[in-house]
Amino acid sequence: MPRILSGIQPSGRIHLGNYCGAVRQWVDLQELGHEQFIFVASYHALTTQRDAPAYRATIRQLATDLLAFGLDPARTALYLQHDVPEVAELAWLISCVCPMAWMEKMVGYKDKLAKGISPNVGLFNYPILQAADILSVDADLVPVGRDQVQHIEITRDLAARFNEEFQAPVFKLPAHRLVPEAEVLPGVDGEKMSKSYGNTIDPFEDENPLKKRVMSIKTDGKGLTDAKDPETCNVFRIFRAIAGKNDQRTIDLAVRYREPGPQGFGYGHAKLALLGLILDHFGPARRRRAELMADPAAVDAALRQGADRARAIVRRTTDRARAACGLA
Ligand code: ADP
Ligand code: TRP
Repeated sequence: MPRILSGIQPSGRIHLGNYCGAVRQWVDLQELGHEQFIFVASYHALTTQRDAPAYRATIRQLATDLLAFGLDPARTALYLQHDVPEVAELAWLISCVCPMAWMEKMVGYKDKLAKGISPNVGLFNYPILQAADILSVDADLVPVGRDQVQHIEITRDLAARFNEEFQAPVFKLPAHRLVPEAEVLPGVDGEKMSKSYGNTIDPFEDENPLKKRVMSIKTDGKGLTDAKDPETCNVFRIFRAIAGKNDQRTIDLAVRYREPGPQGFGYGHAKLALLGLILDHFGPARRRRAELMADPAAVDAALRQGADRARAIVRRTTDRARAACGLA
């Protein structure tokens, strides 16, 4: 069985896009019995986070939410990146074989430059730290969204270069794995759902604000009895992403869009159906999250267990890397 690693930045509250694009796949892979390492990328998000107490709370909440979604500490090693500080050392060792030009061509960095953001060195080095995360546990597969593929490719290049320059088989070369049918989930405004656009839907929000949020999803001006195209509707696309495209509820909803009938079927009805789906689909996760928030010791224990498992492997990799460069 291939060993799997993936991570998510604690840069805000988790949203439906993160769930459909990443977290759900991790839960599925866990169910298939893969050996899996999932971590909260707390060093990575430091490129942007500055309010320490708020940051600590965000990190904690993300870890709690991942457990609530169904990551099981007995099967998936869930850990905080900064609880495995060897990755920062590995990142330094790797940076010493990385040509400047490789980092200068990374799209994440170039996008920030194009947006006029003045980048810090941490942002420039971001892919090197990501490479260290992956190589540190000898991961075979890295399930990520499309935006991350370049980072996995550069990880392979860096691993090969390190092994070559130090003439030692220190790092295993990983492959990426795209999220199957990875559709970009739209936010309430129809743009890509993203923490940075303020257009997210939080599946853990209380029912009243959640309803308000769902009712605010942008739709066109078609009336109750007009035939509507589900494919271009943000409400339908979110519904389909959660329920699945072959689910009977999705198929029925598409029919009602196309043939509203004499009684009519409007966007208000569709939004209420989506709200019902969210409450139903995330009901168990919402209950688990409430339990975990009342039991911080359980979250601590899960994170400790995950860090211990990761660290045992990461220490061996770091020892190999040190020895290869003459630092043993
Ligand atoms: P954000 O854009 O909200 O900051 P991140 O860049 O931290 O999200 O993404 C974390 C993970 O969630 C990545 O694997 C990414 O591919 C996935 N993801 C984020 N937004 C979406 C979306 N709108 N649709 C599908 N997947 C998404
Ligand atoms: N860069 C990833 C993102 O923004 C998060 C991340 C950090 C990651 N290290 C990783 C993902 C290692 C996979 C493997 O979504």
